[in-house]
Amino acid sequence: MARRAALVTGASSGIGLAIAHLLGEEGYALTVAARRPVKLEAAADGLRDCGYDVQHVAGDLGDEDAIEAVVAAHTERFGRLDVLVNNAGVGMGEPVDGLTTRKVDLQMATNLRSIFLFYRACMPLLRAAGTEHSSALVINTASISGVRGEAWLGVYSATKHGVIGYTQAMNKELAAAGIKSTALAPGFVDTPMTDFVKAHVPAEAMIRPQDIAEGVRFLLRTSPGCVVPEIRFEQPGGGLDALPSVHDT
Ligand SMILES: NC(=O)c1ccc[n+]([C@@H]2O[C@H](COP(=O)([O-])OP(=O)(O)OC[C@H]3O[C@@H](n4cnc5c(N)ncnc54)[C@H](OP(=O)(O)O)[C@@H]3O)[C@@H](O)[C@H]2O)c1
Repeated sequence: MARRAALVTGASSGIGLAIAHLLGEEGYALTVAARRPVKLEAAADGLRDCGYDVQHVAGDLGDEDAIEAVVAAHTERFGRLDVLVNNAGVGMGEPVDGLTTRKVDLQMATNLRSIFLFYRACMPLLRAAGTEHSSALVINTASISGVRGEAWLGVYSATKHGVIGYTQAMNKELAAAGIKSTALAPGFVDTPMTDFVKAHVPAEAMIRPQDIAEGVRFLLRTSPGCVVPEIRFEQPGGGLDALPSVHDT
């Protein structure tokens, strides 16, 4: 059995990949999961090249069976789970008058429903880790638009508000089990997800994925008596204000 193990969703690029690198560096054996198999395999190979113990499992994590399969593969390979990172997500901007039902469902399933199901599937391993060291950790990637609703990103904002609310609920429900939860709430981060806005907000002005990973390093070092319910990462001066002008163009 691994000494410490973590499962990271949405780990094939951006924030999830940066967090996976950080966890590998910190000595965690890793299961990384994401949707597209070829992209995920390339990311996993990059992690293995750094010397980390990594398995990759591809699947659409909006799907319950795929979630169960990822957790089963993790359990089989590593037998323990100290850190669960629910990071997979999609953002689709649309005005309210023209919402596409398929896009609503996709964002609800990927960004929010999957988190409920990952918690449920991981409870036996998380409870075991919590009993062992009182610091089992679940990190849920929300967004600054989960703190303040954003025009044109209403459905995305609503799912991310849900992520923050569920994180708060889990901290009440699982405190006695030694399981802590943290929601990460970043503004614009330089990842493929923000390519659509980079003509208006230069990538160099955005938060770096490594900034988010450093927040995770901090969480790993907090003592059992300290829970951090939420971390906000913002660009100086705000940042998301650029969105309406993007939509207008
Ligand atoms: N970038 C930002 O400015 C920003 C700000 C706040 C919050 N966030 C949140 O941060 C998280 C990571 O996003 P990112 O910026 O790092 O973007 P990214 O580089 O596009 O990464 C998204 C990850 O999620 C995976 N994913 C998406 N849909 C999936 C599905 N149905 N099943 C399995 N995996 C799926 C992607 O895999 P595939 O590529 O194979 O689909 C990819 O690994 C998301 O939850 C996002 O909402 C991002």
